[in-house]
Amino acid sequence: MKGIVLAGGSGSRLRPVTLGVSKQLIPVYDKPMIYYPLSVLMLAAINEILIITTPVDRPYFERLLGDGSRWGLRLTYAEQENPNGIAEAFIIGADHVGDDSVALILGDNIFHGPGFSRLLRTNADDLKGCVLFAYPVRDPERYGIAEVDEDGVLLSLEEKPARPRSNLAVTGLYFYDNDVVSIARRLRPSRRGELEITDVNDTYLQRGRAKVVNLGRGFAWLDAGTHESLLEAGHYVRTLEERQGIHIACLEEIALHSGRIDADRCHQLGSHMAGSGYGRYVMELAHAARPR
Ligand code: G1P
Repeated sequence: MKGIVLAGGSGSRLRPVTLGVSKQLIPVYDKPMIYYPLSVLMLAAINEILIITTPVDRPYFERLLGDGSRWGLRLTYAEQENPNGIAEAFIIGADHVGDDSVALILGDNIFHGPGFSRLLRTNADDLKGCVLFAYPVRDPERYGIAEVDEDGVLLSLEEKPARPRSNLAVTGLYFYDNDVVSIARRLRPSRRGELEITDVNDTYLQRGRAKVVNLGRGFAWLDAGTHESLLEAGHYVRTLEERQGIHIACLEEIALHSGRIDADRCHQLGSHMAGSGYGRYVMELAHAARPR
């Protein structure tokens, strides 16, 4: 399975911050926002990841993440020139996807919860059509909404409905088989002029090939697209990290524990950041992983 992180957009709800820097590069507590979606793809055992940014922001993402080899990844970059919608990612990324399946994640989505890695890998392995990850929310009119029956079977999908049929939001993480490329190519722009991801998902639903996984209560799905939600997400991460002495979405930790890098490499990566708690944590992980 290939991966795509969509990190385009103008970040209009975070101005003036985003007048100078891409939304997905600003920090959520102790690491850049894009670390969170990247960590999700790594937990899903994906190594080949395309990062789609705007033409202006691309060099800054390249400076931050490079070719990904330091984490055992293969990162490549592409540009979305205009905000033409999420589904354009599959047209821009068609060569990257090739004849493989693909996971798309939005660059401002943060996921955290128990058993997530296994859930991701199981759903990637059994993929038939598409898998959507849904989450109950208080304000369903802001999201793509899934209506499901009592057995969890998907009945309908609607983008930002004025009168939502459920409170189950479709999060910004999607798994697709290879048909997604041709589906995206045949889409017409919506009334707001965008290639809507909900229309892609609806095509799978009409074909009887869409599955919904409800992440449920006890899980955290946060978006960091407004000043308030960005601060809340930062507090959430800080609270967990301070209380448990861990760091979430630590790319070096995932790379180490999944065997993408060894302890020496991990230590080296941490030593370049030894001035921060994040860097010292990475060095400690390496010490703990060295054979005694
Ligand atoms: C997009 C999708 C929506 C989804 C949301 C998740 O909306 O169109 O279906 O629920 O991402 O973050 P946007 O945030 O781009 O308005």
